[in-house]
Amino acid sequence: MLKTRSLHPGFGIEVLDLDLADPASDAAIDQLVRDLDHHSLILVRGQKLSNERHVEVSRRFGSLMTHVLKQFLTTGLPEIYVLSNVSENGKPIGNHKEGWNWHSDLSYVAEPSMGSLLYSVEVPPEGADTLFASMHLAYEALPPATQQRIRHMTATHSYAGYYGKAFADRAPLSDEQKARTPDVRHPVVRTHPTTGRLSLYVGEDIIKQIDGLPPEESDALLAALNRHAISDAFVYRHRWQQGDLVIWDNRCTMHCATPYDDNKYRRVMHRTTVAGTRPF
Ligand code: OGA
Ligand code: MN
Repeated sequence: MLKTRSLHPGFGIEVLDLDLADPASDAAIDQLVRDLDHHSLILVRGQKLSNERHVEVSRRFGSLMTHVLKQFLTTGLPEIYVLSNVSENGKPIGNHKEGWNWHSDLSYVAEPSMGSLLYSVEVPPEGADTLFASMHLAYEALPPATQQRIRHMTATHSYAGYYGKAFADRAPLSDEQKARTPDVRHPVVRTHPTTGRLSLYVGEDIIKQIDGLPPEESDALLAALNRHAISDAFVYRHRWQQGDLVIWDNRCTMHCATPYDDNKYRRVMHRTTVAGTRPF
């Protein structure tokens, strides 16, 4: 039996007294894999994970995806995507300002990620919290008429569109990167494949439009759904400590980074990304 405490009344647990670096924790990790379906987010603090062990733990959740921005796979293990403001030898070791919008990881591919495992290697003493919102809670709190209206809508997710907005100051995506990330359509309401529970599947910047609506109506509906989805009542704010591992379910949560003084402080985060299936 794992010792846990709740992080938010509606989702998210912290698992206490667990050392993931210990190979004897494998049975507990398999329990976390099952718990994730029901709790959407799991925090384990005080970890000392080598890159190899981070990948090994992550693999118990499923096969891992490698990020399209190869320049940020800098640990020697291609499964680890680095988020950081740090440069070494004049080169960034990770993507800075990754996730500074509300999103679900890799929603812009046909088979988006089912979950991510983000490990904090170095964190600023202030700022840089990550916000997580439960899209189950968000969907369930919508008025029934809105649920009905959006139930069978789809939306177009575009990585190229997002990249152009978020990273306008950088070199554009290469043809190869663009070829790996064509626009895709996903349902606006998706079903959790193991629990059957419904959730909203929206996001800022990555969604180009809600399909079949005139642009103004699409923009207005998307803005209203996003605003609703990130209401305080559905959000858990994570204040990072070094050695935290946060595991979240991308099928039913969104998350968003918050700013910090990036001139003063270093931040180094390692993410693995578990493959998922086509949303329905
Ligand atoms: C991510 C992400 C936000 C943050 O790792 O996928 O969006 O606060 N991170 O680092
Ligand atoms: Mn993210």
